Amino acid sequence: MELTKEEERILKGDYGIAKRCALEKLYKMGEVYDAEKFVKISSAHVAGISIKTLMKGGLQLLKDFGALNPKCEVLTTLNPISIDLDNFSKLPVVADIAEKQIEVLKIFEKMGAVPTYSCTPYYLGNLPLYSQHIAWSESSAVIFANSVLGAQTVRESALTSLYASVAGRTCYYSLHKPENRLPTVSVKISMDTGNFDSLDYSLLGYYVGKNVESESVPIFENLKSPTTDQLKSLGASMAIIGRVDLFHVRDTTPEAIRYKYPSPNSSINVSKEDLLKVKEDIGASDYDVDLIALGCPHLSIQELCHVAQLLKGKKIRNNVTLWICTSKQMKIIADRMGITKEIENAGGKIISDTCMVVAPVELLGFDRVLTNSAKAAYFLRYLVKREVFLDSLQGCCIAAIKKS
Ligand code: F3S
Repeated sequence: MELTKEEERILKGDYGIAKRCALEKLYKMGEVYDAEKFVKISSAHVAGISIKTLMKGGLQLLKDFGALNPKCEVLTTLNPISIDLDNFSKLPVVADIAEKQIEVLKIFEKMGAVPTYSCTPYYLGNLPLYSQHIAWSESSAVIFANSVLGAQTVRESALTSLYASVAGRTCYYSLHKPENRLPTVSVKISMDTGNFDSLDYSLLGYYVGKNVESESVPIFENLKSPTTDQLKSLGASMAIIGRVDLFHVRDTTPEAIRYKYPSPNSSINVSKEDLLKVKEDIGASDYDVDLIALGCPHLSIQELCHVAQLLKGKKIRNNVTLWICTSKQMKIIADRMGITKEIENAGGKIISDTCMVVAPVELLGFDRVLTNSAKAAYFLRYLVKREVFLDSLQGCCIAAIKKS
């Protein structure tokens, strides 16, 4: 790899052992991916820090690196952890997890990372500009940053995003290069998308992720005025089911507007039946559940307002727990707006710092889960081994409410 004078000095150890170690690791990664050089980054986002996803080996690597006294060189935010620090972290059943999780958080605290514990860093001050290079892990945030913000990142691993944060740069390859950001497949939807809700977007992302080749760059030809939150749902499921880290929406996302791409030769069509089939395959609606969980990715303030409206003056059924997952910062705004009170009066719980996938739902006694996110459904079924069902945000709220 071509190195600048500064990078040569970092590798000689002139800037300390932690920065040298971080750049050495990235250098090895660069060789694997044939990167020609490093590129400076404006921010990092580190996923995989929950006790549930940090395997024993990962924990040891983190501790060893932490012992070198590394410091974040760029703004660095953190993904959800396994406990809600203000909610169930004191329950005896999660005591062991809580203790280990807090040990991990102390390592990041010493480095100067921002304790956001959310998969939506772009709502929380980590908002890169168009065309800025960044080093993010967390597939849903990566695809959002690339597609909706027009920032440039590959899907880093937990460790490489951490090394990039400390080194202030990452390897220049794949989606950091303009030629790899061009659309490769057109997506044509044969139905009116004007009434699509976030579940429809989530199912659409799942279908496209499953039916395009790995590392494709889809361009959606005829989506009708999607909102930011809907694009968040679309990307989250596309990234998890397929290896897709960038999409464009004609006349909507920044690169599609700027470059007015011609349609690629390859295309796929999506029909209403295709989306219904996806829903059936992942888990058709069933209200006989013990947990109803919204907020994968973490809910925005608009989505929280919508939930509060649906629950206003209602009561949650006995034997059902309703989790509304969001960041702590959104919860503070919700508290100020009176939204938290409305949700709690109905019997719902705003859960922050964590989510239905990385929290120990199995230890908390939840076996059957209803959600509005195809990504959450996928993980809950295959990683957490729960029975999972899908409905829209509105459908989930209706399922949670006591029949009068
Ligand atoms: Fe976020 Fe958890 Fe879903 S980290 S994207 S809410 S699986």
